[in-house]
Amino acid sequence: MGKIIVGKTSDFAPGKMQKVTIDGKDVLVVNIDGSYHAINDTCTHAGASLSEGSLNGSIVTCGWHGAKFDCKAGNLSEFPVKIKDLNSYKVIVESENIFVEV
Ligand code: FES
Repeated sequence: MGKIIVGKTSDFAPGKMQKVTIDGKDVLVVNIDGSYHAINDTCTHAGASLSEGSLNGSIVTCGWHGAKFDCKAGNLSEFPVKIKDLNSYKVIVESENIFVEV
């Protein structure tokens, strides 16, 4: 694939996260203090949508059982058992447009 436009910078406010669907794949786009990141939206524990969880700094907490992932690289940061990290994707900002490379 390639880089896919997911919206404008104004669509993703700082401290907010939003699920977008790219070619059937659910991706979570996060704005951390003006720096944009994209990771898989589907929790690797039991499949919850992380967009329905909460964001604190760069850490997204799954709303179902509390797994915490770092949005910058998709790494698991806290959970009682080892579960897979999330895939992360490159985000490119050109003018006002946000692209995700998948
Ligand atoms: S589904 Fe995310 S922690 Fe269980």
